[in-house]
Amino acid sequence: MINKLISIFIFFTTFLCIIIAVAAKACWSGGWTINVANEINSPDKLQVHCKSKNNDIGMKELGFHQSVDWKFCENIIAPSTLFFCHVYKGNQEQVFDVFNHTIKQLCREQDRSKDYWRCSWLIQADGIHFIDRRDGGEKNIKMHDWKNIERVF
Ligand SMILES: *[C@@H]1O[C@H](CO)[C@@H](O)[C@H](O)[C@H]1NC(C)=O
Repeated sequence: MINKLISIFIFFTTFLCIIIAVAAKACWSGGWTINVANEINSPDKLQVHCKSKNNDIGMKELGFHQSVDWKFCENIIAPSTLFFCHVYKGNQEQVFDVFNHTIKQLCREQDRSKDYWRCSWLIQADGIHFIDRRDGGEKNIKMHDWKNIERVF
C-alpha cells in the first residue's frame, strides 16, 4: 500500500517537473524582442501603434531616436504569432507586420546576455526599414514606403 502511494507520488512529481520544464522552455527557446525606432531627425513626433491578436502595445509617441520595445514568447507547439504596427507621420502612414512567419527568419539575432531573439525596425524619412541579421551582420533594408493618408471630406 505504502509502496503504491510512493510510486503514485513519484509519477506525479515527475509529470509536474516535465510540465514546468516545457513551460519554461517556451520562453527560453522562443523568446522574442521587437524594437521599432524613430530615426527621423525632426521635432515632429511619430505615432506608433503595435499589436497582435491578443496583445495591444498601445499608442506611443516617439521623438527622434526613441523606440517602442516589447518582449513575448511564442507557443512552441504551434508558433503563429503575428504583430503589426500602424505608424503615423504627419499626413503619411503605413501598416506593416513587424513579426510574422517570414520576417522572423531574417531578423533573428540572439541577444546572448538575455537569451532573446531580436527584430529591429527603423522608421526613416523615406520609409520603413528593417535590420536583416541573417548573415550575422546588420543590413539595413527598406521594406515599406509611406502612404499618403487619404482624407475623406
Ligand atoms: C511579413 O512581414 C513582412 C514585413 O513587414 C511583409 O513584407 C510580408 O508581406 C509579411 N508576410 C505575410 C505573409 O504577410
